[in-house]
Amino acid sequence: MASSDSASAGKKVTTLTLQSKKTRGEPITFLTGYDYATAVALDRSGIDGILVGDSLGMVVLGYDNTLPVTLEDMIHHCRAVARGARRAQLVADLPFMTYQGSPMEALRNAGSLMKKGRMDAVKLEGGRERAAAVKAIVSAGIPVMGHLGLTPQSVHQLGGWRVQGKTAAAARRLIEDALILEDAGCYAVVLEAVPAELAGLVTRRLAIPTIGIGAGAACDGQVLVVHDLLGLFDRFTPGFVKKYADLFSEMERAFTEYIGDVKERRFPAAEHCHTMDPQEYRDLVREIEMLESETGPDGNVSGRFH
Ligand code: KIV
Repeated sequence: MASSDSASAGKKVTTLTLQSKKTRGEPITFLTGYDYATAVALDRSGIDGILVGDSLGMVVLGYDNTLPVTLEDMIHHCRAVARGARRAQLVADLPFMTYQGSPMEALRNAGSLMKKGRMDAVKLEGGRERAAAVKAIVSAGIPVMGHLGLTPQSVHQLGGWRVQGKTAAAARRLIEDALILEDAGCYAVVLEAVPAELAGLVTRRLAIPTIGIGAGAACDGQVLVVHDLLGLFDRFTPGFVKKYADLFSEMERAFTEYIGDVKERRFPAAEHCHTMDPQEYRDLVREIEMLESETGPDGNVSGRFH
């Protein structure tokens, strides 16, 4: 069995799998995914987790930020991912204003992502101000992943896409927030765009895994937006991203080649065409010719064959 096959045939990744990876010091791998085909490929590759991030608002739906994403958008994409992945842990973002109002609202919407979206866990952004929401969701048996540092749903409050926790005071507050999220019941915390030293301090203080994005190598795991990794997004790519492919250029090349092939009649070629059984075709032509000879070339009956 190929290594990717053995990974896809493996056991379902759970919160316990991730916790034991932290204990063993084995790096945890997450990527975002928003559709069926990517989910199949990610699952086969042996990834630990697929995050149906609200980043889909930017890289799939073309918004400038994640704020317009709705719960219905998320559920639609979650269901597609769930149809493609069997083994990886599936985590969905609670979108902007689906959990900030009250713990009850947070619980209800987290429940929809699990029930309708067929997810294994939910993620929400923020620290101490989200402790009550985390407790409410966890009390219903739903695993919650926290998200600290650059929290994209607060981009306007943060004054843009900026690295967080750069001063001692801001870093101390972020460490406190991480401990509060752990106490509230989070099973993991994403650290986005924070200095590597700070991510290391948080990772050593928490018993639960940290998953970094632009947070250095000391985190227990890493996550990237799959469109950034594949070079599929034609707009801004953050500096912390490593591009493993340039699929946007490849897509443009393929589209241009297709257009040229159609215009120059190179496509479809014989191997792309369906054909009739030769005898059936001969019978058809003979039938048309007989009808035309009976009614004349401008007769009504022959008109049916054109
Ligand atoms: O929405 C998302 O893709 C995320 C990752 C950047 C962690 O939250």
